[in-house]
Amino acid sequence: HAFYKVAVLGAAGGIGQPLTLLIKMSPLVSALNLYDIVNVKGVAADLSHCNTPSRVSGFTGASELADCLKGADVVVMTAGVPRKPGMTRDDLFNTNASIVKTLAEAIADNCPDALIHIITNPLNSTVPIAAEILKQKGVYDPKKLFGVTTLDVVRANTFVSQEKNLKLIDVDVPVIGGHAGITILPLLSKAKPSVTFSDEQVQELTVRIQNAGTEVVEVKAGAGSATLSMAYAAARFVESSLRALDGDSDVYECAYVESNITDLPFFASRIKLGRKGVEAVISSELHGLTDYENKALEALKPELKASIEKGVAFVQNQL
Ligand code: APR
Repeated sequence: HAFYKVAVLGAAGGIGQPLTLLIKMSPLVSALNLYDIVNVKGVAADLSHCNTPSRVSGFTGASELADCLKGADVVVMTAGVPRKPGMTRDDLFNTNASIVKTLAEAIADNCPDALIHIITNPLNSTVPIAAEILKQKGVYDPKKLFGVTTLDVVRANTFVSQEKNLKLIDVDVPVIGGHAGITILPLLSKAKPSVTFSDEQVQELTVRIQNAGTEVVEVKAGAGSATLSMAYAAARFVESSLRALDGDSDVYECAYVESNITDLPFFASRIKLGRKGVEAVISSELHGLTDYENKALEALKPELKASIEKGVAFVQNQL
């Protein structure tokens, strides 16, 4: 095995802390760099005492960002404010767009070859923002930029296995589109193992998966959005990426990436991961959809398109 360097930006946050703990458990990581604007040295000191192989370092403030990123194979960006009750992910745009821009510039300058995993919301816009910045810097590789939508798949798998009494380990539901409200489209007709749902069940499960993040925001009542399940899902995606870098030729995940399988420039779909990032976007998932799924797909496109354009405009208007 080779061993990899992973940098987590926003590492002292609600997602960042459990995520770095889970990455610390990985057998494929040799260096784990934590960056935040507050509290991160303490988090790094704490984590560094775990007797797993990776060496943990904490970095704080703009002056230490470059050192955090140099040589990173994978960068996970989870910096930014989370939702409070009543907010949509898009309400975070004004604050988080600038954070993503600054951090993407630093990634372009210091580790342009890294796989970049974006968690910061609104994901439908923040991934296009990062892409525009990387393009401006002349280092954009669409195969290496990912919006992490793994939590949508994790939630779909959990809810379907509960509904149908299936062993969780066996369940795999592709989720396509984007990562907000109706742009999240679980393809229940393509669930594995193959299961049949009534029309009511399809409607109920689809809406529950789309609103699962909001469900957590409401119960947390002002304390933020999903952190533990998000960290779990993001750690799964990091581990998949590392296994692919390490030469495993059978790694598939769903992620929000640049693709041409629809008329939208960014779209979440099942992808095959390889040594250089996205090896293939699996377009066959879009064939043979049910009427319900086809309608939902057409219905999500205008919102997703607008979110992508909003991200692109944010960068271009600042030129
Ligand atoms: N650079 C680095 N870190 C930053 C910056 C910045 N410019 N701005 C904020 N942070 C850090 C904060 O200091 C905090 O530690 O990002 C962390 C965010 O943590 P939380 O506020 O606890 O938010 P969290 O629940 O982890 O969500 C982070 O992920 O899922 C998305 O919608 C969510 O956009 C939000 C992000």
